[in-house]
Amino acid sequence: MKTTNENCFLLKGNIIFTKSNQNYEVLEHGYILSIDGKCKGVFSQVPEEYSSLPITDYGDKIMIPGMSDLHVHAPQYAFRGMGMDLELLDWLNTNTFPEEAKYIDLDYGKKAYSIFVDDMKKSTTTRASIFATIHPAGTTLLMDMLEESGLKTYVGKVSMDRNSPDYLSEGCAETSMKNTNQWLDACKGKYERTLPILTPRFIPTCSDEVMVALGELHKTTGIPIQSHLSENFGEIAWVKELCPTSKHYGDAYDQSGMFGGHDGKAIMAHCTHCTQGEIDLMKANDVYVAHCPQSNTNLSSGVAPVRTYLENDLNIGLGSDVAGGANLSIMRAMADVVQCSKLRWRLLDDTLPPITVLEAFYMATKGGGSFFGNVGSFEEGYELDVVVLDDTLLPHPQPLTPVQRLERLVYLSDDRHVVGKYVAGVKLF
Ligand code: GUN
Ligand code: FE
Repeated sequence: MKTTNENCFLLKGNIIFTKSNQNYEVLEHGYILSIDGKCKGVFSQVPEEYSSLPITDYGDKIMIPGMSDLHVHAPQYAFRGMGMDLELLDWLNTNTFPEEAKYIDLDYGKKAYSIFVDDMKKSTTTRASIFATIHPAGTTLLMDMLEESGLKTYVGKVSMDRNSPDYLSEGCAETSMKNTNQWLDACKGKYERTLPILTPRFIPTCSDEVMVALGELHKTTGIPIQSHLSENFGEIAWVKELCPTSKHYGDAYDQSGMFGGHDGKAIMAHCTHCTQGEIDLMKANDVYVAHCPQSNTNLSSGVAPVRTYLENDLNIGLGSDVAGGANLSIMRAMADVVQCSKLRWRLLDDTLPPITVLEAFYMATKGGGSFFGNVGSFEEGYELDVVVLDDTLLPHPQPLTPVQRLERLVYLSDDRHVVGKYVAGVKLF
């Protein structure tokens, strides 16, 4: 019987994806088959039983899986690329906290968040895990806009009840948890594509009471967690002072059940300077590393040992960490990973070979995508997230292979190259 369902279609073009970080899968002028939001595989000829389905022919363009941004701060998008001469803790106090305080005002939030959401929609990102601010209403506003965009995201109301300026503090653990519960109630059952994620900013701004209460909420509801881990020397030393009984920074989260494990999902951003103890615990608890190379450079945090994380078989994806990172593009993050790993190899540790473009592509697609389920590949059963890339703005005197063309698009990343996008089988443009 021939399939004719309107949620079923074929896309034709030059297909590139990965099953592992060892190989590209390439099919020139091939077909991706989408059935009810899921990929049914890639084919060089249309299978007979699907010959009546509509085909969108993208000609010589390139089709890749959608990318995942595992760590980004939506309210910081407004000051990206400014105030980049400070280290993390001074940067937070001088630039970040005053800007985030503005999101108490929903009119400002609407203006600023619409720029962020529009730009994310135009990028290669189809999935993201996003920090909002401490404001429940502002966070719900951002979730409304993301739902409308068609992207699939996790969004977190940030928890901060200590070591925070008066103008950006929830004051005490009780108020902080009241805000979190009020926000969770407001988004319950409201969205199809936008899910809540528990978001203690980092250990310094969250009291033990808040961490324990969030850990309990995580255990009872299964709502995942996102936070920051071992990013910058000043911050790591402060956590040591604040938590003298913990074995390491990761253990400070684990003591309140906020470090994955027991089927709970957690993303830890940066992991620039993790100890072997932290690495072992991340492996045991299935914690995701959100590697944010541009932010780690801008805030002078360092260069994460990505090769070590790959060798330890950790879950690892990429994060833009706007506005620590100035660029929202995960294509740009791919180039940043490769470049930073080369400097690390040359200057810091020549036993850890640099990351290849292929490995960076895997992290950007299937590696980070796995946090969202079967996402980031064109293997059968994967959710159909597709980005269509046009490189005609980059003329070349000779024919290039699809992989060479992709590599140029990565190094010369520009959202003008993104000409089509599908998320879970839904066409955004
Ligand atoms: N640690 C705590 N808050 C932040 C933040 O907003 N950005 C970064 N890069 N690190 C953090
Ligand atoms: Fe961050």
